Amino acid sequence: MSPKERLYSDLSWLWPMWGDPAGEYADYVQQVIAWIGKYGRRKYRTVLDLGCGGGKCSFTLKDHYEVMGLDLSPDMLARCQELNPGLATVCADMRSFDLKREFDIILVNDAISYITTEGDLRQVLDNCFRHLEDDGLAILTPDICQEEFIQNETNVFHSIPHPDHPDTQVVYITINYDPDPADNKYECLFLYVIRSPEGLRVERDLHHLGVFSLSTWQRCIRESGFDYHLEEYTGEEGKYRTLILFKTGGSHGSHDNDQ
Ligand SMILES: C[S@@+](CC[C@H](N)C(=O)[O-])C[C@H]1O[C@@H](n2cnc3c(N)ncnc32)[C@H](O)[C@@H]1O
Repeated sequence: MSPKERLYSDLSWLWPMWGDPAGEYADYVQQVIAWIGKYGRRKYRTVLDLGCGGGKCSFTLKDHYEVMGLDLSPDMLARCQELNPGLATVCADMRSFDLKREFDIILVNDAISYITTEGDLRQVLDNCFRHLEDDGLAILTPDICQEEFIQNETNVFHSIPHPDHPDTQVVYITINYDPDPADNKYECLFLYVIRSPEGLRVERDLHHLGVFSLSTWQRCIRESGFDYHLEEYTGEEGKYRTLILFKTGGSHGSHDNDQ
């Protein structure tokens, strides 16, 4: 099964040039490790990088944990292998995967936004619960919550040098648009302005994404059986809410920490 998004299929070569695994991604993963220290109750060994894409989080995670990457896109998993040779990976859908094993930690960075309905969100959360050991943590950083959504918000990013494309520069433009604020779906139009020795080309890639209010998140998390904490991460691209979900050993607990 190949994804519809061009960034994860025919244009996946653009992904390694968008964000430095040893820079901004490593900073984010160090924050994740600090949260594991803050909320964890024991020593943690195994991590599932859910929606791992090109493996930029796994790049740093694998120095600290035994990591498996899961993604829907074979092209992104190939990028992940290029960056992390030998990393265990599996091609599957985060809504329906069944690995028949449990992990200490599940990380979902910048991938849950591809979940566009509340039913699918519950399936992902239930699946995370099922794949976690007792006292395990699921750490979810959604791109955006409904409270922060801005119609036509436009962001511009610049490529970093890459040895496979030494003479290519890319400007990545993303534009968020919600055609129907009554549902949980919105569109993000990605435009890639690519300058190479062959000349200038502009590629277009429309992503259909999901956005949920914080209260929907909180309800779905509780219904899936997790306790949770809310944190915030400030990276190069701005502020992101992060949900730290805790699977209480034995039974469902109740020490929410809403902020
Ligand atoms: C923006 S990339 C983020 C990758 C990675 N987590 C990171 O932080 O660099 C989003 C990834 O989510 C994956 N994805 C989207 N929907 C998915 C699904 N239903 N199941 C598994 N992976 C999915 C895409 O294939 C893509 O590789």
